[in-house]
Amino acid sequence: MRTVDIIQKKRDGGELSAAEIRFLIDGYVKGDIPDYQVSAWAMAVFFQGMSPRETAELTMAMAESGDMIDLSPIHGVKVDKHSTGGVGDSVTLALAPMVAAAGVPVAKMSGRGLGHTGGTIDKLESIPGFRVELSRDDFIRQVNEIGLAVIGQSGNITPADKKLYGLRDVTATVNSIPLIASSIMSKKLASGADAIVLDVKTGNGAFMKSLDDSIRLAQAMVDIGTELGRHTVAVISDMDQPLGSAIGNALEVKEAIHVLKGEGTPSLTDICLALGSHMLVLGGKAESPAEGERLLRESIANGTALAKFEQFIKAQGGAAAVAQDPQGTLPAAARIVPVEAGAAGYVTRIVAEEIGTAAMLLGAGRATKESQIDLAVGIILRKRVGERVEAGEAIAELHVNGTQPDELERVAQMVRSAYDIHSQPTEAPPLLYAVVTKDGVQRLEAKA
Ligand code: URA
Repeated sequence: MRTVDIIQKKRDGGELSAAEIRFLIDGYVKGDIPDYQVSAWAMAVFFQGMSPRETAELTMAMAESGDMIDLSPIHGVKVDKHSTGGVGDSVTLALAPMVAAAGVPVAKMSGRGLGHTGGTIDKLESIPGFRVELSRDDFIRQVNEIGLAVIGQSGNITPADKKLYGLRDVTATVNSIPLIASSIMSKKLASGADAIVLDVKTGNGAFMKSLDDSIRLAQAMVDIGTELGRHTVAVISDMDQPLGSAIGNALEVKEAIHVLKGEGTPSLTDICLALGSHMLVLGGKAESPAEGERLLRESIANGTALAKFEQFIKAQGGAAAVAQDPQGTLPAAARIVPVEAGAAGYVTRIVAEEIGTAAMLLGAGRATKESQIDLAVGIILRKRVGERVEAGEAIAELHVNGTQPDELERVAQMVRSAYDIHSQPTEAPPLLYAVVTKDGVQRLEAKA
């Protein structure tokens, strides 16, 4: 087999065989096939696409390029959740204990943040003492004992995806639906999921800006899951403004605890209920999403979700007091600086990516993989889309440690310009647009 023939076949719109895809991926990981040939192939895929069968073969080849985690010693259906990346997205922190409290085991491997999006592992590390590394045996024992563990990705998971993603980043081939879908699903398969619930974001802060593209990405991932025998459901949700009102590690932990106490930001609570309800169905604890939602609401109302969070934090060495007293337990920034609206009107849009970048500049996120982050700093949004503001009123707060005055002014200006304020009132955007399953697309709301 010759790599050049594989590139040519894809360039001309052909369908690659399983053997050709394996040859390419295995050869790339081993270093036998150079970056320039894989770049040409990725560009051919970008323009020609891949069939559902090819996409599933690529997913499996990437999943099997490294360790395949075996979660079979954990009792019950292991349902994983993945978000395509958001700003102010502390969903995992609230959702995992809610789902575990309702009886579905959560054995989750999460990542760190990069660029304008945050990572669950960084957020958890803002809880004093919390350990994100557990041995495989301890991880499995903890899930069997308390139903929940969250650790950082370790070992050699999907090396093919790591290498290919790095290459796509510098060859303008990230935004290809089969390449994104196979990249995400390969990591879920390698992490041992039996079933998968996906939160596919749509809007200005997402990979996919249009609803139709977001649905196509969701369908590609559901097709892969179905082809590979993993029940997969995707929810399409809004990223035309940050999901929650807190952006920054400790700030987001605090916001997630509010959800568990039944006092959460409505958008964050609602997305946890939507994703969690499907997790309970796939995990065999609910007959329908409506029943799943009822069970999750019960876990909040009767305190079992918060108690599960407390138990989980304690099991991983963290200060369990955080559940009852987040303010007194989490690191806090030295100063809070308000950002004031320049004009009166109604908030029509908050560019999520700009807010994420502003939080990164304060130190909450990483500009490069090597950057050090400050777990206490970040941004609290005081106004959301649809709300009225007066000139000079605070639209947001910057939580700051040591940022120099000129940089602080730059960040404040960035937050101000991320807000579109108009004289005409506008409705808050819908949160959930569609649910995609193997049976089709259920559209919930149209997108403006
Ligand atoms: N997230 C991933 O893991 N992979 C992609 O290709 C895009 C987003």
